[in-house]
Amino acid sequence: WLHSLAIVVAAYLLGSIPTGYLLMRIFRRQDIRTLGSGNIGATNVLRSGAKGLGAATFLLDVLKGMLAVWVGAKIGASGIPMIRPHDAMTLAALCAVLGHMFPIWLGLKGGKGVATAFGVFIMLVPYAALGSLVLFIVVFAISRIVSLASILGTIVFPLLAWVLAPWAHTYLPLVIICLICGLILVKHQQNILRLMAGTEYRFGSSKKNPP
Ligand code: G3P
Repeated sequence: WLHSLAIVVAAYLLGSIPTGYLLMRIFRRQDIRTLGSGNIGATNVLRSGAKGLGAATFLLDVLKGMLAVWVGAKIGASGIPMIRPHDAMTLAALCAVLGHMFPIWLGLKGGKGVATAFGVFIMLVPYAALGSLVLFIVVFAISRIVSLASILGTIVFPLLAWVLAPWAHTYLPLVIICLICGLILVKHQQNILRLMAGTEYRFGSSKKNPP
């Protein structure tokens, strides 16, 4: 169980690095939580006008998710008895996303988990992650609304994982995949309310921020 604990701690700490917050603090001297939607994710950094930092936030959030799963696999393989590789990876995936959503460094108020979840899912079920990415791109291209693209990509992801990854049919990975996607949807509750009210921010529209 020491190895499981090590996976939980390492993945949580990696996920909890608040990249968007740090990049905006360091390069813009601004608190991203006071701008736009208040989210610390790439979308809001981009919305604030910092295009390069938005792209960097996305890439780093994806990378920390990938790294957490990789580290989880390594720790899992070093234990005696070994933790089954996919169990170690899915445990790391969940803890990395939880770290991003609830970082101790920001009073447990973190991001919505989309980029970090994409990173962990690329490692776990790459074809399903790419399927969700394609849907994300199509929905965003049509609507220009990132949250709508994120929400729809998140909803179809467990179904794609089910179809494309037979190993995900075992109990633990399936539960964790559904849990991560459920958490992402819960984190989007303000976005869902704005979408229903027709007031969600669209990229390219003259409205600067969501109300
Ligand atoms: O990845 C987060 C995105 O889906 C929504 O971000 O800033 O529009 O709430 P935001």
